Amino acid sequence: MITVVANLKGGSGKSTVSFNLAIWLLNQGHEVQAFDLDPQLTFHDVAQIRKDEEHQPELEVMAVETLSVEVNPAAEVIFDVGAANPEGMREAIRHANRIIIPVPPSQPDVWATQRFLKIVREAREGMDEQLEIIVFVNRADTHHAVRESDDTEAALEQLPDVTVLPQRLYQRTIYRRSMSEGLAVFELWRGSKGSDEFDAFANALYSN
Ligand SMILES: Nc1ncnc2c1ncn2[C@@H]1O[C@H](COP(=O)(O)OP(=O)(O)OP(=O)(O)O)[C@@H](O)[C@H]1O
Ligand SMILES: [Mg+2]
Repeated sequence: MITVVANLKGGSGKSTVSFNLAIWLLNQGHEVQAFDLDPQLTFHDVAQIRKDEEHQPELEVMAVETLSVEVNPAAEVIFDVGAANPEGMREAIRHANRIIIPVPPSQPDVWATQRFLKIVREAREGMDEQLEIIVFVNRADTHHAVRESDDTEAALEQLPDVTVLPQRLYQRTIYRRSMSEGLAVFELWRGSKGSDEFDAFANALYSN
């Protein structure tokens, strides 16, 4: 399956989610093909740190501008896509079986998601293949009194033809550490809240 992790807005967590999902899939025994289509190359860089530190399993992330690469139909394929490469983004959207959109809890992020969905629809125009679009709240507030995560999720529920994943990822330091150390959150601290929530999130995405 080809999964594209994308959104229009920067800093929504695309590379963090791509990296942690890729390692999770490797640990589940899947063959993983990973591509970084964002010229910032964060996904590629974190895999390089992992390689330098000799953490196992090793993750290969190919840095590409366009999809001039053979995709292995037997593999779980992950694309990290950023707005800085609009042509690559469009191409990835056309190849996708599904798109996962991380949305931080704020109104501007909801607006950006609406704009992004318009780009997705335009890119898929004339295509008959099914596309699943999954949105979820990333960097959700851990404090119950803060309403923005609930409000954002409610706004996402109003968007047509998207699935809102109820498994949120919360704003936690462990996600930042994950990227600086080249380790997935569940490798850094198994049994932590971050590890458990990521496990639930990935299971919901890949359970069938
Ligand atoms: N759930 C989270 N909790 C805490 N920090 C997070 C979380 N998700 C992402 N971050 C942090 O937010 C920053 C942006 O994340 P990331 O680089 O994954 O976003 P991005 O969407 O790929 O950004 P860009 O558009 O610049 O490529 C990073 O410092 C990352 O560590
Ligand atoms: Mg990124």
